[in-house]
Amino acid sequence: MSVTIGVFVGSLRRDSFCKKVANTFQSLIPEGYEMKFIDISKLQMYNQDYDDDGNTPMEWETFRKEVKELDGFLFVTPEYNRSIPPVLKNALDIASRPYGQNVWSGKPGAVFSVSPGNIGGFGANHHLRQVLSFLNVYTMQQPEVYLSNITNSLDEQGNISNESTIKFLQDIANAFAAWIAKFM
Ligand code: FNR
Repeated sequence: MSVTIGVFVGSLRRDSFCKKVANTFQSLIPEGYEMKFIDISKLQMYNQDYDDDGNTPMEWETFRKEVKELDGFLFVTPEYNRSIPPVLKNALDIASRPYGQNVWSGKPGAVFSVSPGNIGGFGANHHLRQVLSFLNVYTMQQPEVYLSNITNSLDEQGNISNESTIKFLQDIANAFAAWIAKFM
């Protein structure tokens, strides 16, 4: 039986560094684990009126169902002004509601922050951890993943080719798989 991990990328940018990291990570996850990329780009901004009035948008329903069926979550996020991008917060909010129907709850997860800067998205990483703590996601504490100066890990084609980055991601993939296995 395969364990399905949902991948949530906090950037919509075509050439997103986060997407490159997520793609590379997908190729490193051990056998028995499937990484499923979940599209959060088309989710309308959360407004409780739609739920309260019985006009819940179809894409919210579909998204909540998708999240509910996952065994675990990987969040790969850039840092926007020392926090997480709104598209990711919106997705987290949508699947946390209606009140009492938080479909993130009780599942394992991991947080990667990625940045071309020196701090590696530390602020975004910890803002996201705060939200996930409230949503009752069992977020892997160690090892932590702050991918700083990410452009140094890319080759001329823009792919992650730096050996030490790949080795680091392989160690993380093994640790994450072991973390998820504790909850199966
Ligand atoms: C950024 N960026 C950024 N970087 C960072 O390290 N700390 C920050 O607080 C911010 N703030 C920020 C705000 C906004 C609105 C944007 C658009 C960008 C730069 C960011 O790291 C860079 O654009 C990355 O390339 C974004 O990730 P993706 O899209 O490559 O995955």
